[in-house]
Formats: sequence, C-alpha cells, structure tokens
Amino acid sequence: MRGSFDHYMLKEIYEQPESLTSTMRGRIKKDEGTGRYEIHLGGVKSRLRDILSSSRIIFVACGSSYHACLAARQVVEELTDVPVSVELASDFNDRKCPLFRSDTCVFVSQSGETKDTLESLSYAKGADAVTVGVVNVVGSEISRQTSCGIHLNAGSEIGVASTKAYTSQIVALVMFALQLSHDRHSKDARRQEILAALHEMPYQIESSIKRIDEVTLRLAKSLEQSASILLSGRGFQFATCLEGALKIKEVSYTHTEGIHSGELKHGPLALIDDHMPVIFFAASDNTKGHIQSALQQVLARRSSGVFVIVCTEDDPDMLKYRGNMCELVEVPKTADCLQSIISILPMQLLSYHLAVYRGHNVDQPRHLAKSVTV
Ligand code: M6R
Repeated sequence: MRGSFDHYMLKEIYEQPESLTSTMRGRIKKDEGTGRYEIHLGGVKSRLRDILSSSRIIFVACGSSYHACLAARQVVEELTDVPVSVELASDFNDRKCPLFRSDTCVFVSQSGETKDTLESLSYAKGADAVTVGVVNVVGSEISRQTSCGIHLNAGSEIGVASTKAYTSQIVALVMFALQLSHDRHSKDARRQEILAALHEMPYQIESSIKRIDEVTLRLAKSLEQSASILLSGRGFQFATCLEGALKIKEVSYTHTEGIHSGELKHGPLALIDDHMPVIFFAASDNTKGHIQSALQQVLARRSSGVFVIVCTEDDPDMLKYRGNMCELVEVPKTADCLQSIISILPMQLLSYHLAVYRGHNVDQPRHLAKSVTV
C-alpha cells in the first residue's frame, strides 16, 4: 500500500498531482474549440439559487479543514459577492451563533465524521439554513446529512496529518465559488484565469515536488535542534502559515506558530532573536509590499539564525534576499487565490522530514486520532 514510500504521509504528499486531478475530474472541462473552461459541480446544482440568495455563507470546520476554508474565503467572496465567515466548529457550537434560514452553512471535513462539525451541522439544520457538505469519505455522516455537497475524491488518506485532503479541500471550495458565479459576466475573465490555473496545477506540482523535497530535507536538518519556529504570511498565505504551523507541531512535536504578518508589530516581534527560526511566505500578489516591509523588520533584528522565504520561482524582489542570511524556497507560480495550494508543499515536506529526523511515528503522532469522533 505504501509502495516505495517509508510512510503514508510521504506517499500522500507525493500523490497530490493525482488527488487534485481526481478532485477536478469531470468537473472542469475545456472546450477545445473556444479554449474556454467550464465548471460542472453536479452535487450542488440543485441548491445554487438558494445559496446565491443567502445573506451570508458560513464555513464551519476543525483543524486543517478550517485552514482550507480560510484559504478559500477571499475568492468565494470575490466571485459571489456574498459575505463569507469562517468558524471553528467547536467555537461555533459554544457560542450558538445566531443562524437563519437565509444562511448557507458549508461543513468541510475529510472524514465527514468529526464530532464538533457534526454538532454544528445539526444546529444549522435546526435553524433551517441551507447545508452543504465538502467531504472526502463517501457515505460519511456529514455527506448524508447535508442537503447538497461536493465529494473531494482525493482517495483515502491514512496518515493522521492531513496533506492531500487539505489541498483537495481548497480546490473543491474554489470550484464551489466558480460554480456559484458561472453566469456572472463581470467575473468571466477572472473565472477563466482561475480555471486555466487549476488545470495546470497538477503538472506544476508533479514537475517541482522532487526539487522542493530536496530543499526541505536540507532545511529540516538545520531546524532539527530548534525548540520553536515562527511562520508568517498574509492574504492568501495566512492560511498557509497556520496550516504549516499545525503540520510541523503535529508530526515533529516542535512548538510552531503561524502569525499574520500584519500582527507582528502588535506583539510577536518581541520573540525575534538570533535563535528563533522564521519562515515567511511571500507570494507574488497584492500583499507583497507589506510582506517585504515585515520581513525587513524581522531581518533588522537578527544577525544570524535560520531565516527562510517561501516565494514564487525567479521572483526578482525575493532573489535579492538569497544568501543575505536567507534561504529561499522557490515554488511554481499560479493564480493568487490558488498559490496556497502550492506554497503548503514545502511545509508538508518539512514537517515530515523533521519528524523522521527526530524518530517520531509520522503516520500516527502521539495523542492524535485520524478522526475525532468523541
Ligand atoms: O476529518 P476532518 O477534516 O473533519 O478533521 C478535522 C481535523 O481533525 C483534522 O484536519 C486535523 O486537524 C488534521 N489531522 C491535521 O493534520
């Protein structure tokens, strides 16, 4: 089952070109005559009108699934013009947040069995909200109890750490936004840009994953003794730093924090010294100016130590940092709203290699279960 891989986690990281292809199979089609792409998500078509007339869309999830929702929120708002909020299922349940029949709640879960997410679903059903499930496991409780939904089709995920399910969740949520906006003429150019980039993505990952793996293997060696690591990003990459931090702490047992770059000056900058490894996510998008000023502020407060920038390939604004106390991890460039799918790869691999160096049980980290049903 693991083939030539030592662990399921590594196999599942490497499987992402296929799992993403599978998530998109039969749903994104290119008209060879016109060169235009079309989207067809059969599982939500019957409720499209209800969802689009909602006063808000609320994503509800836990852990990595919650981060996938954060990664997709901006593009769902952009393409639908419906306000979107993202809720941790446990907090949503504690607050019993006001909910109405004019709301659409989207429940995102790999297993489809997570207790807190299921509890939120039953609360939403009680309020008569439209319920949408985005799940990997066919026939799971969430997929059966929601009124419509999208299956990830990512294939079974055995490793406790979510990797291929996470990237498929982002793709599924972006496709959801594309489906909801399918007849919006004003969004047509943007939709075609995103659809073309989705089509290209499995090839981009396939052709770069080995190189990214080699870079992160070296990086893991230099971080092997670190007690703590800070990850920072903003915009679409805020989700990447939260998810990267979760991956690293979950399998390597290293304290890691994902911090919004806009928040550094509001406290976390005090943690910066020569011993604190820092990883920045610098995408080629509208956040770049802010990211550059944040990373300069961090660099100015150090004279040594591990400092890494995850950026898009051949970005001249980032290449200038190479060698100047910085290691660059370059990843293929894609549409801004999809960059988080590619930028998480080095963090998945880094967490894996750190865990292996430290001799941990990668596929079954201590105290954790694949599905949190109690
Ligand atoms: O099955 P779910 O997606 O509902 O699970 C939610 C979380 O328990 C899960 O994503 C967890 O955070 C991952 N193991 C993290 O890698």
